[in-house]
Amino acid sequence: MNRRKFFRLLGAGGLLGLLKARAQTPPWDEGTFAPTRTLGEPLKEYGQRSPFEEGVVRYISPNLRTRHSGASFAPLEKLEGVITPNGLHFERHHAGAPQVDPKSYRLVIHGMVERPLVFTLEDLKRFPSVTRTYFIECAGNGQNGYRNPPDPELTATRSRGLASNASWTGVPLALLLKEAGVKPGARWLIPEGMDAAMYTRSLPLEKAMEDVLVAYAQNGEALRPEQGYPVRLVVPGWEGSIQVKWLRRILVTDQPAMAKDETSEYTDVTADGRVLAFTWVMDPESIITYPSGGQRIQPGFHEIRGLAWSGHGRIAKVEISFDEGRTWRQATLEPPVEPYAFVRFKLPWYWDGKEVVLWSRAWDEKGNTQPTREEFFKKWSRNNRYHYNAIQAWRILPDGRVVNGDRPLGQGAFHPVGPVGGCGGEVLDV
Ligand code: CO
Repeated sequence: MNRRKFFRLLGAGGLLGLLKARAQTPPWDEGTFAPTRTLGEPLKEYGQRSPFEEGVVRYISPNLRTRHSGASFAPLEKLEGVITPNGLHFERHHAGAPQVDPKSYRLVIHGMVERPLVFTLEDLKRFPSVTRTYFIECAGNGQNGYRNPPDPELTATRSRGLASNASWTGVPLALLLKEAGVKPGARWLIPEGMDAAMYTRSLPLEKAMEDVLVAYAQNGEALRPEQGYPVRLVVPGWEGSIQVKWLRRILVTDQPAMAKDETSEYTDVTADGRVLAFTWVMDPESIITYPSGGQRIQPGFHEIRGLAWSGHGRIAKVEISFDEGRTWRQATLEPPVEPYAFVRFKLPWYWDGKEVVLWSRAWDEKGNTQPTREEFFKKWSRNNRYHYNAIQAWRILPDGRVVNGDRPLGQGAFHPVGPVGGCGGEVLDV
């Protein structure tokens, strides 16, 4: 039926009568189109979402011992497009989010420089600015994949929600370093946060000169406190833990700090028992957000939707398998496909009501892709905690329920027993 005919019928009450006669529960009643007779909400100085959307929130593990050291997960399957709204960007902090007064805020650059410098927030904003869309992903994202047997209740949020994507505005760190004049022989930067953990990491000077931002805005407004207000580092494509928030100072030096969070934490155990430090780049990831764990679908048409990203650059393609990797179909990528940023992938699909397992696999422009679970654990120890990027499977049961489709690995359970919370306390602290 064309639009004109639809409205003509509607005007005559024809369609309404037709539908009423046919259906026991009409799709609308007369009240649906009754004029609104009540005054709406007044103007507000700062907007809020609809109260009907209040259930769309970050996930915080009930296993966490304290909300001051841990993580909250972005609700990936409840979001559209690629930008994570500021109130839903995943959080990770080690001693709570400090409240920093922008008037007294200072950033110090010192050490192996010609001119040690102190910047106010106003100073930083006077420099030429850059706005770029980048994902930030906790090195511990995907940690639930270390669970064996896999958690049948897993959702997309709890599978990969320690990643978010935002438009960041700030000053290239290279500009500030040029202003200070880096001395020959300097190779490392030691950024430090002003949280109570004095969070400290070591950042190679080379990466800083390439594309690191000293960011003060997130999706057009000032950073949220939990994202480092007023100033944080944004290190494109690298693990979130090096993107120091509430940035207080940067020491320029010739050697890494070997800080707590790059030695006892954020190091990776390989299958043959070695421990790797300074593993910064995030390998490709993808997650089908619809249909995904916890949802329920009906037979018929569906647009499979998901998110993909890589710390090596742009996503080249995303493939979907309906037969656990024997054959693959290529999904469509929604432009623009930017480096170090979320991309939305889609694939039209008709579900015939039979049990099926969906896999997604991202490829980046450098030719990297995601391993299967079996392949992943050939390389990494089952006692590792970071950089899990194996394919996430979703199983659709005949009744339409979607559950974790990851198959258990042999040799019994590993994780979830341990003394510490890790990123989000999801795996280790149960
Ligand atoms: Co790492």
